Amino acid sequence: MNTTMPATPWWQGATIYQIYPLSFADSNGDGIGDLRGVINHLDHVARLGVDAIWLCPFHETPLLDCGYDTTNAKAVDPRFGQLSDFHDLVREAHARGLKVIVDQVYTYTHEHHPWFTASRASRQGDKQDWYVWADAKADGSAPNNWLSIFGGPAWEWDCTRRQYYMTTFLPGMPHLDGNHPEVRRELLDVARFWFDQGADGLRLDVINLLALDPQLRSNPAVAGSDPKDMPLVPIYAQQMLYDGAQPQNLEFIASLRALADTYRKDTGGSFLLGEVSNPDVIAEGRHYSQGSERLHSCYHVLAGYGAAFSAAALRADLESWNDDTGWPTWSFGNHDTMRPMTRLAGPNPPRELGALLVAILACLRGTVLLYQGDELGLPCGQVPYDKLRDPATKRFFGHYMQRDGARTPMPWWGSEAQAGFSSAATTWLPLGVGHAALAVDVQEGEAGSTLRQSRELLALRRAQPALRAGTLHFIDSPEPVLAFERRLGSTRLACAFNLSPAPAALPSAWPAASASLLGMPHPNGLLPAWSYAVLRLPDVRSG
Ligand code: BGC
Repeated sequence: MNTTMPATPWWQGATIYQIYPLSFADSNGDGIGDLRGVINHLDHVARLGVDAIWLCPFHETPLLDCGYDTTNAKAVDPRFGQLSDFHDLVREAHARGLKVIVDQVYTYTHEHHPWFTASRASRQGDKQDWYVWADAKADGSAPNNWLSIFGGPAWEWDCTRRQYYMTTFLPGMPHLDGNHPEVRRELLDVARFWFDQGADGLRLDVINLLALDPQLRSNPAVAGSDPKDMPLVPIYAQQMLYDGAQPQNLEFIASLRALADTYRKDTGGSFLLGEVSNPDVIAEGRHYSQGSERLHSCYHVLAGYGAAFSAAALRADLESWNDDTGWPTWSFGNHDTMRPMTRLAGPNPPRELGALLVAILACLRGTVLLYQGDELGLPCGQVPYDKLRDPATKRFFGHYMQRDGARTPMPWWGSEAQAGFSSAATTWLPLGVGHAALAVDVQEGEAGSTLRQSRELLALRRAQPALRAGTLHFIDSPEPVLAFERRLGSTRLACAFNLSPAPAALPSAWPAASASLLGMPHPNGLLPAWSYAVLRLPDVRSG
């Protein structure tokens, strides 16, 4: 048997645990999570068997968009702690073998960022063109037809300059001019700063939207599309030719990559993970992550944003990025989507679904992201309207974009107040209903819990080079079974997942007596409801 691990960089095939600091753990009793809270729970993260953490924003922020709105990208917001806490976090993470990936927001700032304050003050100042400004049309309307991802036109009127500024998400988050050389220099300086503080990698927020068309041309319509068929907002009724995805982005990314390549050479290299916004995230992710002058990888949420949860739909996504053009990163959940348990199985999801989703991730080719709480199989936290914090959740209340439901506090100790998240009587978002019963300590003591299965599954991914680094070959199988093999050298592992509440047959292509490495018993070749199996197939004989 040949299980030689090829010399691949650490992030290829890695599992990255995503931490949303606001909701992870509150160390100082103010009801908001913080960096010390993260440090206090790093043992939990390390025991999961992941390779790295991605820390969502903890930079100076008025919290208009829960931290993605920065007023100083080089400072730790006092609500989260101090820079020295970040240094301690890096040290403690490294001591546990975990790399640290820091979120970076380059496409826009909060309107109270000093750069924007200077930019909006006058049309003549030295930062007057650091953001995307334009005169109104003669009838007072916006300069072009661009739309905001959170609804409505992408232009906001400024009374001082008497001009419109562009905003991709919220009126208080002006878009930086990604074509401006000084802006690019400043952004590179932010990246350098976090690498100098000890980051091993950066997650780059909607990085393909950084540079916009300098001529501000209106987007053409997508032929045949009907805005009333669009989910949430009709932005994809337009071809996004000019409000993002400009070739100039690749120039900036090349300089960012050159900078990143100078860091962490002695520990396996740094990692740049992109978020791209596009009707076809996979195609855009491939484009942005190929070659040595672009990002290392971009991520895609499987069965996300209204896509079906079926074997065929998952296979179609995975199959469309199963070669060496760029490098895929996959997830089922993050801070921007409704928790997958509820999104994929409705208001009363079966417990088994939690481990099934981790099992799929653990077997995929690519880098995988596991969002905090998904190792516990948390369903969407129900947050009443008057307690919502996320402007997008308010805006789309009642629709699938219930981001606050994925951002409720992490439950640590089931019998404590606030499930051990905080000693405060009130937390920034309320604990999810029913989440205390799924807390880490409860699941520790429960054989077969989602948490314990998650640990076993991620340990298997670490132990089996074929799962981390092997090729992936789909095996034809009717719904509801997703089936594929991972192959490396002579090793062949069979991976099968039953995405339904009824037992389903394992593919007949596999010998019935194959040894089970992990997963449910499968008498008579059947996979029980919502279950998985990872089997070792007979080695391929050489010669
Ligand atoms: C972040 C979101 C945020 C948006 C606008 C995204 O890409 O992941 O959480 O709301 O940027 O700030």
